[in-house]
Amino acid sequence: MSIINKNIISLRDKYKDYFPIGAAIRPDDINGPHKEILLKHYNVLVAENHMKFESTQPKENEFTYEAGDKIVDFAMDNNMKMRGHTLIWHNQTTEWVFLDNQGDKVSREVLLERMKNHITEVMNHYKGRVYAWDVVNEAIEDIEDKQLRTTEWLDIIGEDYIEKAFQYAREADPEALLFYNDYNNEQPKKLEKTYELLKKLLEQGVPIDGVGIQAHWDINDVHLFDNLRNAIEKYASLGLQIQITEMDISMFSFEDKRKDIIKPTKEMLEKQARVYEKVFSIFREYKNVITAVLFWGISDEKTWKDNFPVKNRKDWPLIFDENHKEKLSFTKIVEF
Ligand code: G3I
Repeated sequence: MSIINKNIISLRDKYKDYFPIGAAIRPDDINGPHKEILLKHYNVLVAENHMKFESTQPKENEFTYEAGDKIVDFAMDNNMKMRGHTLIWHNQTTEWVFLDNQGDKVSREVLLERMKNHITEVMNHYKGRVYAWDVVNEAIEDIEDKQLRTTEWLDIIGEDYIEKAFQYAREADPEALLFYNDYNNEQPKKLEKTYELLKKLLEQGVPIDGVGIQAHWDINDVHLFDNLRNAIEKYASLGLQIQITEMDISMFSFEDKRKDIIKPTKEMLEKQARVYEKVFSIFREYKNVITAVLFWGISDEKTWKDNFPVKNRKDWPLIFDENHKEKLSFTKIVEF
């Protein structure tokens, strides 16, 4: 029996004059209830894990596209756009990338060659199907007085690894939109560092089309709305487009490590709905610069938040519940 309530409006139809709406998916989401939700509500997809370095090139020059292809084929068959996530990141990148046969760190030249090879191969494989790529992910440091995160990429190549990645990406697929993607980059300190970095790169002529605001938020952040507005305006002032790339709104703030809540309360669900309502009204207001909004998952049945920041603690950050029904958060997004 279908889980879809025919009387419920389609999210993507409701937002057709604003921006595409999407979700991060795993290969098994293209069957069962999640498939029905995807087909009714979304028109842009991203692979939650299967286009990352460790998935696409687990061993040197052994490219594996099976899982990613399954997701991309599903998107193409159903008239959806496909984002690519992600080419260069410190996480989910197999160790071989940074080491030689003896287990020593490779030189800058070797790592640049490997970076170029990876970007070129993967973008070529998905050319014409993936329209936008997170070229570099999470390169900004969280700690206050340091701009770039310490990673093997930075350590071995140096600060220009970011511009090199974007240049290789533009050469590989001149048609694809190229994004810099990060979390907490609407918060003032990280915003400032990101703004400075992007401004400098753009002045140098580095090909960057947009910035991804991941939007892993929670229901208790009282500064969120002001921060968000401010961030959108600042990034837009650089001439960049903005995509909301990984949205979910956790029931817990980062510091809240409670494990005894086994069901969201009515108050939590209402609070979450108010946050979703408000951020979507801000997105609509800035529809001229926001070119896509994607959730990081489909329903509360499974989400990365079930294991972060507390392992094995259930969270309910999405707009469909554990039984795939529309939550109040869904209703508030489509009621305008
Ligand atoms: O698939 C295996 C499974 O076979 C195994 O039994 C299980 C045991 O732990 O692990 C499963 O793999 C997990 C995988 O997610 C699939 O669920 C990995 O351990 C786990 O590390 C991995 O986490 C992913 C995380 O990135 C890793 O960095 C999350 O799914 C994914 O949602 C998350 O996504 C990131 C974005 O790429 C970048 N921005 C932040 C965002 C959230 O962390």
